[in-house]
This record gives sequence, structure tokens and C-alpha cells, in this order.
Amino acid sequence: MDTKRVRKAVIPAAGLGTRFLPATKALPKEMLPIVDKPTIQFIVEEAKKSGIEDILIVTGKNKRAIENHFDSNPELEQDLEKTGKSELLKLTQGITDLGVNLYYTRQPHPAGLGDAIYRAKSFVAGEPFVVMLGDDLMDDKIPLTKQLMNDYEQTHASTIAVMKVPHKEVSKYGVIAPDGKVNDSLYNVKNFVEKPAIDKAPSDLAIIGRYLLTPEIFDILAETKPGRGGEVQLTDAIDTLNKTQRVFAHVFKGKRHDVGNKEGYLETSIEYGLNHPETKDDLRKYILKLAQKLS
Ligand code: G1P
Repeated sequence: MDTKRVRKAVIPAAGLGTRFLPATKALPKEMLPIVDKPTIQFIVEEAKKSGIEDILIVTGKNKRAIENHFDSNPELEQDLEKTGKSELLKLTQGITDLGVNLYYTRQPHPAGLGDAIYRAKSFVAGEPFVVMLGDDLMDDKIPLTKQLMNDYEQTHASTIAVMKVPHKEVSKYGVIAPDGKVNDSLYNVKNFVEKPAIDKAPSDLAIIGRYLLTPEIFDILAETKPGRGGEVQLTDAIDTLNKTQRVFAHVFKGKRHDVGNKEGYLETSIEYGLNHPETKDDLRKYILKLAQKLS
């Protein structure tokens, strides 16, 4: 059992983003903005707010824009300074000075989430760590990653974030077979199943994009055969881990925004736009007018 402090995060960002073609032909899907901020920046900010110190982003071909985004841009900064745009300058420099260390590695072939996470083995170096998927933006008073870290302080065990989803959607997710509650938000788990058929799903509790894992997952990933879709599935490795050490499921009670599909992306953009100081008033007026027209 590993009782080290959790201070590392892995963000897989090597996916091809085919759901957003043609926008993602040359642009990483992680760079698609919600109002004015790339989705991956929300994830990095959640890690930072949770107290994570080191982040490994697993990228692939065509993903250079992600590294550039978190790097400085001297030409742009000089221009903003010269033209007196001090707020924008602060905003731009803030992205470079987030106060977390960013590292990058590449996944050479899209061989599955399990394979992407396996790339993090030497970065993780035997410590417990979190995995944060970029398709899910989470809103809650305490960031979900921090909630998992708080659980870990009590249990010293791997903990996977789950949420109840409509039954007809279960086959889009990893799903858990719960095995009794430990407390109000924590379940023991019998099995983890990747994307089960609707009639075979053991529950409606779906794995959402935050995981806290002990480093033993790497030995298991090394042995995990391709599963669903011919890819090495993280869910399969977690199911195996659960056979040798406890793996809990943490039920998230906040708001999850799935920005990995067009519909969810548009809804999230509207909701965030209704909270953004520059857009909220006019957007609200526009939506009210549009709603009248539509009804
Ligand atoms: C991945 C995981 C799945 C999980 C989902 C959450 O699937 O394999 O278990 O439920 O993320 O978003 P993907 O959406 O990459 O197909």
C-alpha cells in the first residue's frame, strides 16, 4: 500500500478529435475554446487548484499548439505592453506563470487510453497520481480532483470518479458494479466494465474523467491486452487492480460538462458565456429573444 502524497497528474491529449472534424484537422481538440479559454486550460487550472505540482500531458502528432499555449509569447507580450493592454498582458502571462510544472511526452500511435497512461510510468515514478481527461469540465466548490485526493488521505487506495448517467447512455462509458457504500459518496466496487451493452450494464454509475491511481496500475497496464475497440483500456486495468487492492468509486455531486461532443460543447459554451463578465448581459438578452422566436 502506498501512502505518499498525491502531487502528480497525467492529462492524456493524444486523441484525434474526430468528433469535431473539420475543426480538428490541424487544431488539437484540447485547444477548442469555451468562450475564450481552451478546454485544456480548465483542466490544468483544476489540477493547480487541487494542489497538483507536476503535470504530464501525453500528446501526439499535430499537438504543438498545446505546448505553445502554455509557453510565453514574447512578441505578443511586447505588443500588449506597448499598446497599454495591461489586463490582456496579465492574462497572457498568467498562463505561463501558473505555478505548476508542465511536462510533455508523445503517444506514437492511438492505441487507447490505457496505452496513453502507460507512457507516464517513469514520470509517475512509483507515486500515487491522478488522471484527468480533457473532455470533462467539472464544477463544484471543491475541485473533483481535490475530492479524490481527500479520499486518498483517508483510504490510501485508488479512487475513480463516477456519476449516474441516463440508462440509455451507459454504453458510452466505463461502468461500475457497486458493492455497497463506504460512506455518503464512496462505494466499494465489484467490477469495472468498459462500455457495456445497455442490457449488460451492471449499473448506471459511469466513470467520468477523473481517476486517482496507485502506481501498481503500471505493472498491470504492461500486461493488459487490447479490449473494447481493439485498444488497451484503462478501465480493464483498473478492474484487474481491484482484484489485488481496494479500488473505490467516488460519486461526484457537482456539475459535469461533457465538452467531448458537439451538443455538450455548445451547451457548455452557452452556460459559461452566461457567466463571463464580457458576454453575460448581451448573451442573456439574445437567448431570451431567441427562445421567444423558437417557441
Ligand atoms: C473514456 C474511458 C471511459 C470513461 C470516459 C469518460 O472513454 O475509456 O471508461 O467512462 O472516458 O469520459 P472515451 O470517452 O475516451 O471513449
